[in-house]
Amino acid sequence: MTTLDVTTATRPLLSGGTIPQVGLGVWQSPRGAVTRDAVLTALRHGYRHVDTARIYGNEKDVGAAVRESGIPREEIFVTTKLWNEDHGYDAALGAFDASLERLGLEYVDLYLIHWPVPGKRKDTWRAMERIKAGGRAKHIGVSNYLVKHLEELLADATEPPEVDQIEIHPFLQHRETRAFCNERRIVVEAYSPLTRGEKLDHPVVQEVAKRLKRTPAQVLLRWGIEHGLVVLPKSTHEKRIVENAALFDFALDTKGKEALDGLDEGLATGWDPRTQK
Ligand SMILES: NC(=O)c1ccc[n+]([C@@H]2O[C@H](COP(=O)([O-])OP(=O)(O)OC[C@H]3O[C@@H](n4cnc5c(N)ncnc54)[C@H](OP(=O)(O)O)[C@@H]3O)[C@@H](O)[C@H]2O)c1
Repeated sequence: MTTLDVTTATRPLLSGGTIPQVGLGVWQSPRGAVTRDAVLTALRHGYRHVDTARIYGNEKDVGAAVRESGIPREEIFVTTKLWNEDHGYDAALGAFDASLERLGLEYVDLYLIHWPVPGKRKDTWRAMERIKAGGRAKHIGVSNYLVKHLEELLADATEPPEVDQIEIHPFLQHRETRAFCNERRIVVEAYSPLTRGEKLDHPVVQEVAKRLKRTPAQVLLRWGIEHGLVVLPKSTHEKRIVENAALFDFALDTKGKEALDGLDEGLATGWDPRTQK
């Protein structure tokens, strides 16, 4: 039996290939040495997936770390995202070129529409399809799309999105969107999987962590892993980067899983696509 770890645990993608199930998030990771060091640290500890975006302002540092790491490019999965003001066919093509330039990479593994901006998002998707056809994004997808947004996109898309990145943790489970994606083999990525720290002290999370002799952060992330999600924890601290990757040498017990499954309260810690037409 092969034992999975942060390097080897993956999910299959629709058009072939795989995506590592744990990725380092870098939102609010300051540009410059802090982000570069966080990415290098994560890669050194076995991570093979980094999630950035134009709006995070740190694509340059992510790209530098990927290049400096000495790890073959094809072994690292790099995601970036198209920002809201870059919607529309031509604007999206230009925004992608600019992201690639800042990253200093020949391709990204995944390019996502960051938010379902109304009006232009269908034209944007046509640009995403063209970008994928050109090979400079191996995979394309969306973020903050719920069922209504996905249905609209799928109605006239040539290429389906391969990934939907949304906020998910036990306190916000998006079951309907997850079921919709699972039926269509769209990989669901959980952003803010640690609730941005808000619920690490919750008594149920604390109780499960204590019983399993793990940390609250590991319990939240393991819950995501066991639901087949890709999880994207952010930290710039080595101790936490290591902690957030140590998810494959334990499992939730039934009692813990049921308790966590019961915590959904619709808590959006950031922006909330349920309000977006
Ligand atoms: N597509 C979107 O719209 C969207 C929106 C939000 C996020 N994201 C992506 O998802 C990633 C993660 O989400 P997030 O950054 O919002 O929040 P998160 O990963 O849920 O939480 C990050 C916070 O938790 C702290 N933390 C990390 N590990 C910890 C641990 N083991 N114990 C205690 N605290 C810990 C971090 O602090 P330190 O850094 O100081 O350790 C930081 O304050 C982002 O970085 C980004 O890549 C995407």
